[in-house]
Amino acid sequence: MTSRNARTPILVVGAAGTTGRRVTRMLGERGHETRPASRSSEWRFDWNDTDTWDRVLKGAGSMYLVQYDPEPLAPAFIERAVEHGVERVVLLSGRGIDDPDYLPEFFGNGEVTLGKGEEAVRASGAEWTILRPGWFAQNLGEGMFGEDVRSGRVALPFGRGRVSWIDAEDIAAVAVAALTEEGHHGRTYELSGPAALDPEETFAEISRAAGRSVEYAPVSVEEFVELRVGRGWSAEDARTFATLLSPIRRGKDEALSDGVRRALGREARSFAEFARDAAASGVWKA
Ligand SMILES: NC(=O)c1ccc[n+]([C@@H]2O[C@H](COP(=O)([O-])OP(=O)(O)OC[C@H]3O[C@@H](n4cnc5c(N)ncnc54)[C@H](OP(=O)(O)O)[C@@H]3O)[C@@H](O)[C@H]2O)c1
Repeated sequence: MTSRNARTPILVVGAAGTTGRRVTRMLGERGHETRPASRSSEWRFDWNDTDTWDRVLKGAGSMYLVQYDPEPLAPAFIERAVEHGVERVVLLSGRGIDDPDYLPEFFGNGEVTLGKGEEAVRASGAEWTILRPGWFAQNLGEGMFGEDVRSGRVALPFGRGRVSWIDAEDIAAVAVAALTEEGHHGRTYELSGPAALDPEETFAEISRAAGRSVEYAPVSVEEFVELRVGRGWSAEDARTFATLLSPIRRGKDEALSDGVRRALGREARSFAEFARDAAASGVWKA
């Protein structure tokens, strides 16, 4: 049912991605008019071509904003959105933004891209909601670790770190609530799944759901870099990726957050539910 409170049409920036696709789908199921925007989406939008910005913003009532990680372009985009009359912004940020010890190599100098987006949205004058999810469970299926899982042997430098994987379906559900209902303005939702799993538990659950063996093979950062270089990566890219995984190794990603309950009044989906749905989608077929 369409909510009286939605400001439509709703622009979805990053609509081809993991969360944007789900936000677009859920808004459509509820009868809201959407503008799915990205380079390959119905509403063509390119962060690096400011000529594409005005067309997607003109007439939009609210927006879901997935930021552009390589550069802090969100502040200028948010300013432009408010000039165009966008009244409500739901911003996707990430865990650890306010913890200088989460990822000191990237966040330590306060120049972090996602943090700049947060500052901009708070100062924008629009109604705002910030989502700070931890690692998406979907990384293990359709996303960045999917190939490792499909290979049956996951050689990643997770150490023994536990992760409170969040299902992107929940991130999208929180975004849709914040976009279409009252009561979410000025809130920052930290989002995690309901439990933290160590790597053995994670891949045992996936093995169960997928009906095939997926084994965890812990590797050091140096071994990981060597393996990725063998797959054609540059050593620099492999090292950067290993650094991004360092909070997992240091136990920084095991925290449980209550954002799903605060926003939706229900518990977050379990890792087993994610794994069941991912297996049914065929994403782990070799
Ligand atoms: N993955 C995680 O575990 C995790 C955890 C916490 C926070 N985050 C944050 O979540 C965000 C990613 O969200 P997501 O996973 O929903 O998105 P995503 O799957 O990374 O995809 C975002 C979409 O942006 C579009 N895009 C890329 N370059 C573009 C450009 N130059 N101009 C316009 N669109 C462009 C792409 O679609 P087109 O190819 O069609 O343009 C892409 O599908 C990042 O900011 C990340 O830091 C991720």
